[in-house]
Amino acid sequence: MPERTKPAVAVLGLGRMGTPIASAFLDAGYRVTVWNRSAAKADPLVERGAVRAAGAAEAVAVAPLVITPLLDHDAVRRTLGPAATALPRRTVVNLANSTPDQARELAAWVTGHGADYLDGAMMALPETVATKAAFFLYSGSEQAFTTYQDELDVMASAHYFGADPGSAEIHDLALLGTGYAALTGFLHAAALLASLGTAPDVFAPLAARWLHGMADFLPELAREAGSAAYADGVSTVDLNRTAVDNLILVSRANGVAADVHQPLKDLLDRRSADGHGQDSFSSVFELLIPRDTSGAH
Ligand SMILES: NC(=O)c1ccc[n+]([C@@H]2O[C@H](COP(=O)([O-])OP(=O)(O)OC[C@H]3O[C@@H](n4cnc5c(N)ncnc54)[C@H](OP(=O)(O)O)[C@@H]3O)[C@@H](O)[C@H]2O)c1
Repeated sequence: MPERTKPAVAVLGLGRMGTPIASAFLDAGYRVTVWNRSAAKADPLVERGAVRAAGAAEAVAVAPLVITPLLDHDAVRRTLGPAATALPRRTVVNLANSTPDQARELAAWVTGHGADYLDGAMMALPETVATKAAFFLYSGSEQAFTTYQDELDVMASAHYFGADPGSAEIHDLALLGTGYAALTGFLHAAALLASLGTAPDVFAPLAARWLHGMADFLPELAREAGSAAYADGVSTVDLNRTAVDNLILVSRANGVAADVHQPLKDLLDRRSADGHGQDSFSSVFELLIPRDTSGAH
């Protein structure tokens, strides 16, 4: 079978994420056209063989695949707006962090201009682009996902979440929320230990080991929350209420802010006051999920 011709790729936005993405396509042998609002950021890529476009419209005109790792929805709208007449028969892969509704709005605008739309979310750091550590989430046009699977794989392993363009964004926000809670917990703990003389970089490996163990606990939490079966949990609301109380007391005694864990303490206090102190810790889920008046999910 003849080798598939590599499509030309336009990368609009050469910030922390856009630069390694454009670089990965150059490494993989693609013809890459680049554009960035601050033009100088394109210089190192042009030295390596990328083509500099004078504007976004010029870049879109020469590449069937248009990738936008821009700051946010507004930046994408401002960038693609002047390129609207060049959009017919293009595929836009939008990698800017957005709300699900922004992704849907952009999808409607892009398809209204004759292009296909795939929304993407980058579960990566700049240095992990094009490595095994990165994975990107996509939703929107299945045809775009299938047609450009090889190109998506250049950036990171690609995971498709269905036709709703907002789906990748809601999964992105959910994963970011999980990470933010863990990382903020780490920063609080590092501040507490630093106040007692242990440097954050000494603590980090211990915290990493603990977080790996916590990840193994997720299937059990998911099973309990998914079935609302909280009676057999090994770690109860009251047990953890005591631990969180102690953490807050020790933090305050050492002049460390307790802002990170106070909301969790409030949730545990409410569960206990409602008579659920012997339920599993995971039963906090009941205070977070919206329920209709009949009590169903
Ligand atoms: N950095 C990370 O670790 C990371 C990880 C995963 C996902 N993300 C997401 O990836 C996206 C890009 O992040 P980044 O870290 O690459 O950000 P960044 O380094 O700040 O780059 C932002 C890019 O957007 C452009 N931009 C901003 N406002 C614009 C506007 N009004 N019109 C046109 N261009 C505009 C910037 O152009 P100029 O150079 O001219 O300012 C630059 O190319 C964000 O949605 C972010 O949430 C970032």
